Amino acid sequence: MKRLYVILLTAFLALPAFAQTARIKIDTDRKIGEIDKNLYSNFTEHLGRCIYGGLYDPESSQADEAGLRKDVLQAIRDLNVSITRYPGGNFVSNYHWLDGVGPNRKPRLELAWQRMESNEFGTDEFMDFARKVGTEPYFAINLGTGTIEEAQWWVEYCNIKEGPYYAELRRKYGHDEPYNIKYWGLGNEMDGDWQMGQLSPMDYAKKAREAAKIMTYTDPTIKLIASGSSNYTPGADPDEWNRTVLDYLDGFVDYIALHMYVGNANNNYYDFLATPIIMDQRTQLVRGMIREYNKSDRPIKIAWDEYNVWYRARDDASSVGIHALEEHYNLEDALVIAGFLNCFVRNADIVKMANMAQLVNVIAPIFVEDDKMYLQTIYYPLQLFANNMKGEALDVFVDCDKYDTSPDFSLGRNEVNASVKDVPYLDVTAALDGDELIVCVVNRNKDKAIATDIICQQAKFSGPVEVYEINGPDIKAENTVSTTTVTTQKKADLKNPGNANLRYSFPAHSITMLKGKVK
Ligand code: AHR
Repeated sequence: MKRLYVILLTAFLALPAFAQTARIKIDTDRKIGEIDKNLYSNFTEHLGRCIYGGLYDPESSQADEAGLRKDVLQAIRDLNVSITRYPGGNFVSNYHWLDGVGPNRKPRLELAWQRMESNEFGTDEFMDFARKVGTEPYFAINLGTGTIEEAQWWVEYCNIKEGPYYAELRRKYGHDEPYNIKYWGLGNEMDGDWQMGQLSPMDYAKKAREAAKIMTYTDPTIKLIASGSSNYTPGADPDEWNRTVLDYLDGFVDYIALHMYVGNANNNYYDFLATPIIMDQRTQLVRGMIREYNKSDRPIKIAWDEYNVWYRARDDASSVGIHALEEHYNLEDALVIAGFLNCFVRNADIVKMANMAQLVNVIAPIFVEDDKMYLQTIYYPLQLFANNMKGEALDVFVDCDKYDTSPDFSLGRNEVNASVKDVPYLDVTAALDGDELIVCVVNRNKDKAIATDIICQQAKFSGPVEVYEINGPDIKAENTVSTTTVTTQKKADLKNPGNANLRYSFPAHSITMLKGKVK
Protein backbone atom coordinates (compact mmCIF):
# COMPACT_ATOMS: atom_id res chain seq x y z
CA MET A 1 0.00 0.00 0.00
CA LYS A 2 2.77 2.36 1.04
CA ARG A 3 4.60 1.47 -2.18
CA LEU A 4 1.56 2.27 -4.30
CA TYR A 5 1.19 5.61 -2.51
CA VAL A 6 4.83 6.48 -3.27
CA ILE A 7 4.39 5.56 -6.95
CA LEU A 8 1.23 7.65 -7.26
CA LEU A 9 2.84 10.62 -5.52
CA THR A 10 5.93 10.44 -7.76
CA ALA A 11 3.75 10.27 -10.86
CA PHE A 12 1.70 13.22 -9.66
CA LEU A 13 4.78 15.34 -8.95
CA ALA A 14 6.28 14.52 -12.32
CA LEU A 15 3.07 15.39 -14.17
CA PRO A 16 3.31 19.18 -14.29
CA ALA A 17 6.80 19.02 -15.90
CA PHE A 18 5.43 16.96 -18.81
CA ALA A 19 2.10 18.69 -19.13
CA GLN A 20 3.53 22.20 -19.00
CA THR A 21 2.76 24.30 -22.06
CA ALA A 22 5.74 26.13 -23.52
CA ARG A 23 5.43 29.86 -24.22
CA ILE A 24 6.75 32.02 -27.03
CA LYS A 25 6.21 35.75 -26.55
CA ILE A 26 6.61 38.07 -29.51
CA ASP A 27 6.68 41.84 -29.30
CA THR A 28 6.90 43.50 -32.75
CA ASP A 29 8.47 46.59 -31.15
CA ARG A 30 11.52 44.63 -30.05
CA LYS A 31 13.47 44.80 -33.28
CA ILE A 32 17.00 43.39 -33.56
CA GLY A 33 17.93 44.49 -37.09
CA GLU A 34 17.20 44.09 -40.77
CA ILE A 35 17.64 40.53 -42.05
CA ASP A 36 20.09 40.81 -44.94
CA LYS A 37 19.11 38.76 -47.97
CA ASN A 38 22.79 37.77 -48.14
CA LEU A 39 22.22 35.47 -45.13
CA TYR A 40 20.89 33.07 -47.73
CA SER A 41 24.05 32.72 -49.78
CA ASN A 42 26.16 29.86 -50.94
CA PHE A 43 29.58 28.71 -52.08
CA THR A 44 31.02 26.82 -55.05
CA GLU A 45 34.59 25.56 -55.14
CA HIS A 46 36.74 23.72 -57.64
CA LEU A 47 36.54 20.63 -55.45
CA GLY A 48 35.36 17.11 -56.23
CA ARG A 49 32.20 17.25 -58.34
CA CYS A 50 31.02 20.71 -57.31
CA ILE A 51 32.00 22.55 -60.50
CA TYR A 52 33.05 19.73 -62.86
CA GLY A 53 30.36 17.05 -62.92
CA GLY A 54 27.99 19.17 -60.83
CA LEU A 55 27.31 22.68 -62.04
CA TYR A 56 29.18 22.16 -65.25
CA ASP A 57 29.04 18.95 -67.25
CA PRO A 58 29.01 19.38 -71.03
CA GLU A 59 28.64 15.59 -71.45
CA SER A 60 25.39 15.42 -69.49
CA SER A 61 22.03 15.18 -71.27
CA GLN A 62 21.03 17.98 -68.86
CA ALA A 63 23.69 20.39 -70.19
CA ASP A 64 22.71 23.69 -71.79
CA GLU A 65 24.66 25.26 -74.68
CA ALA A 66 27.38 26.38 -72.23
CA GLY A 67 27.70 22.98 -70.52
CA LEU A 68 25.79 24.07 -67.36
CA ARG A 69 23.31 21.53 -66.02
CA LYS A 70 19.78 22.85 -66.48
CA ASP A 71 18.29 20.76 -63.63
CA VAL A 72 20.94 22.08 -61.24
CA LEU A 73 20.40 25.67 -62.41
CA GLN A 74 16.68 25.35 -61.69
CA ALA A 75 17.27 23.91 -58.20
CA ILE A 76 19.60 26.85 -57.49
CA ARG A 77 17.01 29.36 -58.72
CA ASP A 78 14.43 27.75 -56.41
CA LEU A 79 16.86 28.13 -53.52
CA ASN A 80 17.02 31.87 -54.15
CA VAL A 81 20.79 32.00 -53.63
CA SER A 82 21.65 35.62 -52.92
CA ILE A 83 25.45 35.51 -53.24
CA THR A 84 27.69 32.70 -54.51
CA ARG A 85 31.29 32.62 -53.30
CA TYR A 86 33.88 31.31 -55.78
CA PRO A 87 36.37 29.65 -56.60
CA GLY A 88 37.41 28.42 -53.12
CA GLY A 89 37.97 27.49 -50.34
CA ASN A 90 41.36 25.86 -49.95
CA PHE A 91 41.53 25.61 -53.72
CA VAL A 92 41.92 29.37 -54.10
CA SER A 93 45.21 29.51 -52.21
CA ASN A 94 47.02 28.11 -55.24
CA TYR A 95 44.67 29.38 -57.95
CA HIS A 96 45.85 31.69 -60.68
CA TRP A 97 42.83 33.20 -62.32
CA LEU A 98 44.68 33.96 -65.55
CA ASP A 99 44.99 30.19 -66.15
CA GLY A 100 41.20 30.08 -66.46
CA VAL A 101 40.41 32.76 -69.05
CA GLY A 102 40.82 32.97 -72.83
CA PRO A 103 41.43 30.27 -75.40
CA ASN A 104 44.64 28.74 -73.99
CA ARG A 105 43.74 27.25 -70.63
CA LYS A 106 46.60 26.04 -68.50
CA PRO A 107 46.06 22.70 -66.73
CA ARG A 108 47.62 22.41 -63.28
CA LEU A 109 47.95 19.92 -60.48
CA GLU A 110 45.32 20.85 -57.96
CA LEU A 111 47.06 20.46 -54.61
CA ALA A 112 44.30 21.26 -52.08
CA TRP A 113 42.05 18.38 -53.09
CA GLN A 114 44.47 16.33 -55.18
CA ARG A 115 43.23 16.21 -58.72
CA MET A 116 43.94 17.76 -62.11
CA GLU A 117 42.51 21.20 -62.76
CA SER A 118 41.86 21.71 -66.46
CA ASN A 119 40.86 25.36 -65.99
CA GLU A 120 38.13 24.78 -68.56
CA PHE A 121 35.77 26.56 -66.15
CA GLY A 122 36.96 29.98 -64.97
CA THR A 123 35.89 33.58 -64.41
CA ASP A 124 33.81 34.05 -67.57
CA GLU A 125 32.05 30.68 -67.24
CA PHE A 126 31.21 31.43 -63.61
CA MET A 127 29.76 34.79 -64.60
CA ASP A 128 27.58 33.08 -67.21
CA PHE A 129 26.34 30.72 -64.47
CA ALA A 130 25.72 33.61 -62.03
CA ARG A 131 23.70 35.53 -64.62
CA LYS A 132 21.59 32.46 -65.44
CA VAL A 133 20.58 31.79 -61.84
CA GLY A 134 20.45 35.43 -60.70
CA THR A 135 23.05 35.14 -57.95
CA GLU A 136 25.55 37.86 -57.00
CA PRO A 137 29.18 36.76 -57.39
CA TYR A 138 31.70 36.93 -54.55
CA PHE A 139 35.31 36.20 -55.58
CA ALA A 140 37.98 35.10 -53.15
CA ILE A 141 41.56 36.04 -54.07
CA ASN A 142 44.66 33.92 -53.67
CA LEU A 143 46.64 35.22 -50.70
CA GLY A 144 48.50 31.90 -50.33
CA THR A 145 50.75 31.48 -53.36
CA GLY A 146 49.32 34.50 -55.18
CA THR A 147 50.54 38.08 -55.28
CA ILE A 148 48.58 41.18 -54.43
CA GLU A 149 49.24 42.42 -57.95
CA GLU A 150 47.55 39.34 -59.43
CA ALA A 151 44.51 40.18 -57.30
CA GLN A 152 44.51 43.77 -58.56
CA TRP A 153 44.64 42.52 -62.16
CA TRP A 154 41.58 40.37 -61.47
CA VAL A 155 39.62 43.40 -60.24
CA GLU A 156 40.72 45.25 -63.36
CA TYR A 157 39.64 42.34 -65.61
CA CYS A 158 36.23 42.14 -63.93
CA ASN A 159 35.31 45.71 -63.06
CA ILE A 160 37.02 48.22 -65.38
CA LYS A 161 35.08 48.96 -68.53
CA GLU A 162 37.95 49.64 -70.93
CA GLY A 163 41.47 51.01 -71.25
CA PRO A 164 43.96 49.11 -69.10
CA TYR A 165 45.45 45.82 -70.26
CA TYR A 166 43.29 43.37 -68.27
CA ALA A 167 40.03 45.22 -69.00
CA GLU A 168 40.92 45.04 -72.67
CA LEU A 169 41.79 41.36 -72.29
CA ARG A 170 38.25 40.67 -71.06
CA ARG A 171 36.84 42.55 -74.04
CA LYS A 172 39.15 40.64 -76.38
CA TYR A 173 37.74 37.42 -74.92
CA GLY A 174 34.25 38.53 -75.90
CA HIS A 175 32.90 40.19 -72.75
CA ASP A 176 32.39 43.82 -73.58
CA GLU A 177 30.70 44.94 -70.41
CA PRO A 178 32.44 44.80 -67.03
CA TYR A 179 31.09 42.32 -64.48
CA ASN A 180 31.14 44.80 -61.58
CA ILE A 181 31.93 42.19 -58.95
CA LYS A 182 31.06 43.81 -55.65
CA TYR A 183 32.29 41.28 -53.07
CA TRP A 184 35.95 40.25 -52.82
CA GLY A 185 37.38 37.96 -50.17
CA LEU A 186 40.95 38.54 -48.99
CA GLY A 187 42.17 34.93 -49.02
CA ASN A 188 40.71 31.83 -47.42
CA GLU A 189 41.33 30.31 -43.97
CA MET A 190 44.81 31.78 -43.86
CA ASP A 191 45.08 30.72 -40.19
CA GLY A 192 44.96 26.99 -41.00
CA ASP A 193 48.07 24.81 -41.32
CA TRP A 194 46.21 22.99 -44.11
CA GLN A 195 46.23 26.18 -46.17
CA MET A 196 48.79 26.61 -48.92
CA GLY A 197 50.77 29.69 -47.91
CA GLN A 198 49.46 29.81 -44.31
CA LEU A 199 50.38 33.08 -42.60
CA SER A 200 50.81 34.31 -39.05
CA PRO A 201 48.10 36.75 -37.91
CA MET A 202 50.29 39.82 -38.50
CA ASP A 203 51.72 38.59 -41.81
CA TYR A 204 48.18 37.96 -43.02
CA ALA A 205 46.93 41.33 -41.82
CA LYS A 206 49.75 43.15 -43.62
CA LYS A 207 49.34 41.25 -46.89
CA ALA A 208 45.56 41.61 -46.83
CA ARG A 209 45.79 45.34 -46.15
CA GLU A 210 48.13 45.93 -49.10
CA ALA A 211 45.89 43.84 -51.35
CA ALA A 212 42.84 45.77 -50.09
CA LYS A 213 44.53 49.06 -50.94
CA ILE A 214 45.37 48.33 -54.54
CA MET A 215 42.11 46.51 -55.21
CA THR A 216 40.18 49.49 -53.84
CA TYR A 217 42.35 51.96 -55.81
CA THR A 218 41.27 50.00 -58.90
CA ASP A 219 37.56 50.05 -57.97
CA PRO A 220 36.55 52.07 -54.90
CA THR A 221 33.03 50.59 -54.87
CA ILE A 222 34.05 47.04 -53.93
CA LYS A 223 33.26 45.43 -50.55
CA LEU A 224 36.06 43.47 -48.90
CA ILE A 225 35.88 40.43 -46.66
CA ALA A 226 38.82 39.61 -44.37
CA SER A 227 39.62 36.00 -43.41
CA GLY A 228 38.69 35.55 -39.79
CA SER A 229 39.13 32.48 -37.64
CA SER A 230 38.64 28.98 -39.01
CA ASN A 231 41.22 27.09 -36.98
CA TYR A 232 39.97 25.76 -33.65
CA THR A 233 42.32 22.79 -33.44
CA PRO A 234 44.32 22.35 -30.21
CA GLY A 235 47.10 24.95 -30.04
CA ALA A 236 45.45 27.44 -32.42
CA ASP A 237 44.47 30.87 -31.14
CA PRO A 238 41.39 31.99 -33.08
CA ASP A 239 40.84 34.98 -30.80
CA GLU A 240 44.31 36.36 -31.38
CA TRP A 241 43.77 35.92 -35.10
CA ASN A 242 40.47 37.82 -35.07
CA ARG A 243 41.78 40.64 -32.89
CA THR A 244 44.82 41.19 -35.13
CA VAL A 245 42.72 41.14 -38.29
CA LEU A 246 40.12 43.53 -36.89
CA ASP A 247 42.68 45.90 -35.44
CA TYR A 248 44.98 46.09 -38.46
CA LEU A 249 42.29 46.03 -41.15
CA ASP A 250 39.92 48.51 -39.54
CA GLY A 251 39.04 51.07 -42.23
CA PHE A 252 40.06 48.70 -45.06
CA VAL A 253 37.42 45.98 -44.98
CA ASP A 254 33.66 45.57 -44.60
CA TYR A 255 33.32 42.04 -43.20
CA ILE A 256 35.21 39.50 -41.16
CA ALA A 257 34.63 35.94 -42.42
CA LEU A 258 34.09 33.11 -39.93
CA HIS A 259 33.88 29.41 -40.75
CA MET A 260 32.28 26.55 -38.84
CA TYR A 261 31.62 22.89 -39.57
CA VAL A 262 30.05 20.45 -37.14
CA GLY A 263 29.37 16.73 -37.03
CA ASN A 264 27.84 13.90 -35.07
CA ALA A 265 30.72 11.45 -34.99
CA ASN A 266 29.73 10.23 -31.49
CA ASN A 267 26.16 9.69 -32.64
CA ASN A 268 24.79 11.79 -29.79
CA TYR A 269 21.68 13.49 -31.19
CA TYR A 270 21.18 16.00 -28.38
CA ASP A 271 24.83 17.10 -28.36
CA PHE A 272 24.74 17.49 -32.12
CA LEU A 273 21.55 19.59 -31.98
CA ALA A 274 23.28 21.95 -29.52
CA THR A 275 26.16 22.81 -31.90
CA PRO A 276 24.46 25.99 -33.24
CA ILE A 277 24.82 27.37 -29.70
CA ILE A 278 28.58 27.32 -30.17
CA MET A 279 28.12 29.31 -33.37
CA ASP A 280 26.10 31.80 -31.36
CA GLN A 281 28.86 32.03 -28.71
CA ARG A 282 31.49 32.65 -31.39
CA THR A 283 29.26 35.29 -32.95
CA GLN A 284 28.95 37.11 -29.61
CA LEU A 285 32.72 36.96 -29.09
CA VAL A 286 33.49 38.49 -32.48
CA ARG A 287 30.67 41.02 -32.03
CA GLY A 288 32.49 42.21 -28.91
CA MET A 289 35.82 42.37 -30.72
CA ILE A 290 34.26 44.42 -33.51
CA ARG A 291 32.95 46.82 -30.88
CA GLU A 292 36.47 47.11 -29.50
CA TYR A 293 38.45 47.49 -32.73
CA ASN A 294 36.12 48.97 -35.35
CA LYS A 295 36.86 52.64 -34.65
CA SER A 296 36.79 53.89 -38.26
CA ASP A 297 33.61 55.08 -39.93
CA ARG A 298 33.63 51.93 -42.12
CA PRO A 299 31.45 49.42 -40.24
CA ILE A 300 32.62 45.80 -40.06
CA LYS A 301 30.03 43.03 -40.14
CA ILE A 302 30.26 39.27 -39.76
CA ALA A 303 30.11 36.97 -42.80
CA TRP A 304 29.69 33.31 -41.81
CA ASP A 305 30.91 32.52 -45.29
CA GLU A 306 31.35 28.77 -44.74
CA TYR A 307 29.10 26.72 -42.50
CA ASN A 308 27.63 23.24 -42.66
CA VAL A 309 27.52 19.74 -41.27
CA TRP A 310 30.63 17.92 -42.47
CA TYR A 311 32.17 14.92 -40.73
CA ARG A 312 31.51 11.72 -42.64
CA ALA A 313 33.53 12.48 -45.78
CA ARG A 314 36.58 13.69 -43.92
CA ASP A 315 40.11 12.69 -42.98
CA ASP A 316 40.21 9.67 -45.26
CA ALA A 317 40.06 8.85 -48.94
CA SER A 318 36.63 10.51 -49.18
CA SER A 319 38.21 13.90 -48.49
CA VAL A 320 40.20 14.07 -51.73
CA GLY A 321 39.82 13.25 -55.41
CA ILE A 322 36.85 13.41 -57.71
CA HIS A 323 34.27 12.22 -55.16
CA ALA A 324 35.62 14.33 -52.32
CA LEU A 325 33.30 15.51 -49.55
CA GLU A 326 30.15 13.79 -50.80
CA GLU A 327 28.10 13.86 -47.62
CA HIS A 328 24.65 12.31 -47.57
CA TYR A 329 22.45 14.29 -45.26
CA ASN A 330 19.64 13.19 -42.95
CA LEU A 331 16.91 14.88 -40.93
CA GLU A 332 19.07 15.62 -37.87
CA ASP A 333 21.53 17.45 -40.16
CA ALA A 334 18.65 19.58 -41.49
CA LEU A 335 17.65 20.43 -37.90
CA VAL A 336 21.20 21.63 -37.21
CA ILE A 337 21.14 23.75 -40.37
CA ALA A 338 17.89 25.35 -39.19
CA GLY A 339 19.68 26.08 -35.90
CA PHE A 340 22.45 27.88 -37.80
CA LEU A 341 19.90 29.88 -39.79
CA ASN A 342 18.16 30.82 -36.55
CA CYS A 343 21.52 31.98 -35.20
CA PHE A 344 22.02 34.29 -38.20
CA VAL A 345 18.53 35.74 -37.84
CA ARG A 346 18.92 36.23 -34.10
CA ASN A 347 22.13 38.18 -34.80
CA ALA A 348 20.76 39.99 -37.84
CA ASP A 349 22.22 43.32 -36.72
CA ILE A 350 25.82 42.08 -37.05
CA VAL A 351 25.69 38.96 -39.27
CA LYS A 352 25.13 40.31 -42.74
CA MET A 353 26.24 37.40 -44.91
CA ALA A 354 26.21 33.62 -44.55
CA ASN A 355 27.21 31.06 -47.17
CA MET A 356 26.26 27.44 -46.85
CA ALA A 357 29.28 25.41 -47.98
CA GLN A 358 28.74 24.24 -50.61
CA LEU A 359 26.11 24.15 -53.35
CA VAL A 360 26.37 21.01 -55.50
CA ASN A 361 27.61 17.47 -54.61
CA VAL A 362 30.34 18.65 -52.22
CA ILE A 363 28.82 18.91 -48.69
CA ALA A 364 25.84 20.19 -50.60
CA PRO A 365 22.06 20.58 -50.65
CA ILE A 366 21.92 19.59 -54.34
CA PHE A 367 23.21 16.22 -55.47
CA VAL A 368 23.52 14.68 -58.91
CA GLU A 369 23.87 11.06 -59.91
CA ASP A 370 24.55 10.72 -63.61
CA ASP A 371 21.72 12.52 -65.35
CA LYS A 372 19.47 12.62 -62.29
CA MET A 373 19.42 15.20 -59.53
CA TYR A 374 17.90 15.25 -56.06
CA LEU A 375 17.59 17.61 -53.13
CA GLN A 376 19.19 16.64 -49.85
CA THR A 377 17.49 17.25 -46.50
CA ILE A 378 19.54 20.42 -45.83
CA TYR A 379 18.13 22.05 -48.97
CA TYR A 380 14.72 22.51 -47.36
CA PRO A 381 15.49 24.70 -44.31
CA LEU A 382 17.68 26.97 -46.43
CA GLN A 383 14.96 27.28 -49.05
CA LEU A 384 12.28 27.93 -46.42
CA PHE A 385 14.31 30.71 -44.83
CA ALA A 386 15.47 32.25 -48.13
CA ASN A 387 11.91 32.53 -49.36
CA ASN A 388 10.18 33.58 -46.14
CA MET A 389 12.36 34.80 -43.28
CA LYS A 390 12.76 38.45 -44.26
CA GLY A 391 12.26 41.94 -42.82
CA GLU A 392 13.26 42.89 -39.28
CA ALA A 393 14.42 40.19 -36.88
CA LEU A 394 12.58 40.29 -33.54
CA ASP A 395 13.83 39.54 -30.06
CA VAL A 396 11.72 36.57 -28.93
CA PHE A 397 11.09 35.32 -25.39
CA VAL A 398 10.90 31.53 -25.05
CA ASP A 399 9.96 29.54 -21.99
CA CYS A 400 10.29 25.77 -22.42
CA ASP A 401 12.05 22.73 -21.01
CA LYS A 402 15.82 22.52 -21.36
CA TYR A 403 18.60 19.94 -21.34
CA ASP A 404 22.36 19.82 -20.77
CA THR A 405 24.79 18.35 -23.29
CA SER A 406 27.00 15.43 -22.27
CA PRO A 407 30.30 16.12 -20.46
CA ASP A 408 32.31 15.02 -23.52
CA PHE A 409 30.45 17.40 -25.84
CA SER A 410 32.43 18.26 -28.95
CA LEU A 411 31.66 19.72 -32.33
CA GLY A 412 32.07 16.26 -33.76
CA ARG A 413 35.47 17.02 -35.30
CA ASN A 414 38.78 17.54 -33.57
CA GLU A 415 37.50 20.55 -31.67
CA VAL A 416 36.75 20.18 -27.99
CA ASN A 417 34.18 22.40 -26.32
CA ALA A 418 32.89 22.83 -22.81
CA SER A 419 29.52 21.18 -22.45
CA VAL A 420 26.49 23.43 -22.88
CA LYS A 421 23.93 23.88 -20.12
CA ASP A 422 20.25 24.72 -20.51
CA VAL A 423 19.76 24.04 -24.20
CA PRO A 424 16.10 24.92 -24.88
CA TYR A 425 14.15 22.23 -26.67
CA LEU A 426 12.53 24.95 -28.73
CA ASP A 427 14.85 27.12 -30.81
CA VAL A 428 12.80 30.10 -32.00
CA THR A 429 13.22 33.18 -34.19
CA ALA A 430 10.72 35.67 -35.57
CA ALA A 431 10.66 38.49 -38.11
CA LEU A 432 8.30 41.24 -39.12
CA ASP A 433 8.16 41.84 -42.86
CA GLY A 434 5.75 44.73 -43.47
CA ASP A 435 2.49 43.50 -41.98
CA GLU A 436 3.55 39.87 -42.00
CA LEU A 437 4.88 38.00 -38.97
CA ILE A 438 7.12 34.98 -39.58
CA VAL A 439 8.04 32.58 -36.79
CA CYS A 440 10.49 29.69 -37.12
CA VAL A 441 10.55 26.96 -34.47
CA VAL A 442 12.94 24.02 -34.32
CA ASN A 443 11.73 21.38 -31.88
CA ARG A 444 14.91 19.61 -30.78
CA ASN A 445 12.99 17.06 -28.78
CA LYS A 446 13.53 13.70 -30.45
CA ASP A 447 10.45 12.01 -29.01
CA LYS A 448 7.85 14.56 -27.96
CA ALA A 449 5.70 17.19 -29.53
CA ILE A 450 5.72 20.43 -27.54
CA ALA A 451 2.41 22.22 -27.01
CA THR A 452 3.12 25.94 -27.09
CA ASP A 453 1.23 29.18 -26.57
CA ILE A 454 2.38 31.85 -29.00
CA ILE A 455 1.61 35.13 -27.34
CA CYS A 456 1.72 38.25 -29.50
CA GLN A 457 2.20 41.23 -27.23
CA GLN A 458 1.82 43.99 -29.81
CA ALA A 459 0.50 43.36 -33.31
CA LYS A 460 -1.73 40.28 -33.39
CA PHE A 461 -2.41 37.71 -36.09
CA SER A 462 -5.34 39.10 -38.04
CA GLY A 463 -6.12 36.28 -40.45
CA PRO A 464 -5.22 32.69 -41.26
CA VAL A 465 -1.69 31.59 -40.42
CA GLU A 466 0.24 29.52 -42.96
CA VAL A 467 2.15 26.53 -41.58
CA TYR A 468 5.18 24.88 -43.22
CA GLU A 469 6.85 21.85 -41.68
CA ILE A 470 10.07 20.01 -42.42
CA ASN A 471 10.11 16.58 -40.85
CA GLY A 472 10.54 12.90 -41.57
CA PRO A 473 9.76 9.50 -40.07
CA ASP A 474 12.93 9.54 -37.94
CA ILE A 475 16.06 11.59 -37.35
CA LYS A 476 18.21 9.45 -39.64
CA ALA A 477 15.82 9.71 -42.61
CA GLU A 478 17.58 10.70 -45.85
CA ASN A 479 16.54 11.55 -49.37
CA THR A 480 17.92 9.60 -52.30
CA VAL A 481 17.78 9.89 -56.04
CA SER A 482 14.59 7.82 -56.02
CA THR A 483 12.85 8.87 -52.76
CA THR A 484 12.14 12.20 -51.11
CA THR A 485 11.47 11.37 -47.46
CA VAL A 486 12.38 14.69 -45.86
CA THR A 487 10.83 17.74 -47.45
CA THR A 488 8.80 20.87 -46.72
CA GLN A 489 5.08 20.25 -46.32
CA LYS A 490 2.46 22.94 -46.36
CA LYS A 491 -0.01 22.10 -43.62
CA ALA A 492 -3.57 23.37 -43.26
CA ASP A 493 -3.73 27.07 -42.36
CA LEU A 494 -4.48 27.88 -38.74
CA LYS A 495 -7.73 29.78 -38.43
CA ASN A 496 -7.61 33.35 -37.25
CA PRO A 497 -7.42 32.89 -33.48
CA GLY A 498 -9.37 36.09 -32.99
CA ASN A 499 -7.26 37.10 -30.00
CA ALA A 500 -3.62 37.50 -29.15
CA ASN A 501 -2.68 33.86 -28.64
CA LEU A 502 -2.19 30.87 -30.86
CA ARG A 503 -1.71 27.40 -29.50
CA TYR A 504 0.36 25.04 -31.60
CA SER A 505 1.95 21.69 -30.94
CA PHE A 506 5.39 21.50 -32.57
CA PRO A 507 6.02 17.87 -33.57
CA ALA A 508 9.10 15.97 -32.40
CA HIS A 509 12.31 16.59 -34.46
CA SER A 510 10.72 19.20 -36.69
CA ILE A 511 11.22 22.62 -38.22
CA THR A 512 8.01 24.67 -38.39
CA MET A 513 7.49 28.05 -39.98
CA LEU A 514 4.35 30.04 -39.22
CA LYS A 515 3.49 33.03 -41.35
CA GLY A 516 0.52 35.38 -41.22
CA LYS A 517 -0.63 38.97 -41.38
CA VAL A 518 -0.68 40.95 -38.14
CA LYS A 519 -2.50 44.09 -37.13
O1 AHR B 1 34.24 23.69 -47.92
C1 AHR B 1 35.28 22.77 -47.84
C2 AHR B 1 36.57 23.39 -47.31
O2 AHR B 1 36.41 23.70 -45.97
C3 AHR B 1 36.99 24.70 -47.92
O3 AHR B 1 37.71 24.53 -49.09
C4 AHR B 1 37.85 25.29 -46.87
O4 AHR B 1 37.82 26.69 -46.88
C5 AHR B 1 37.30 24.71 -45.58
O5 AHR B 1 38.31 24.16 -44.80
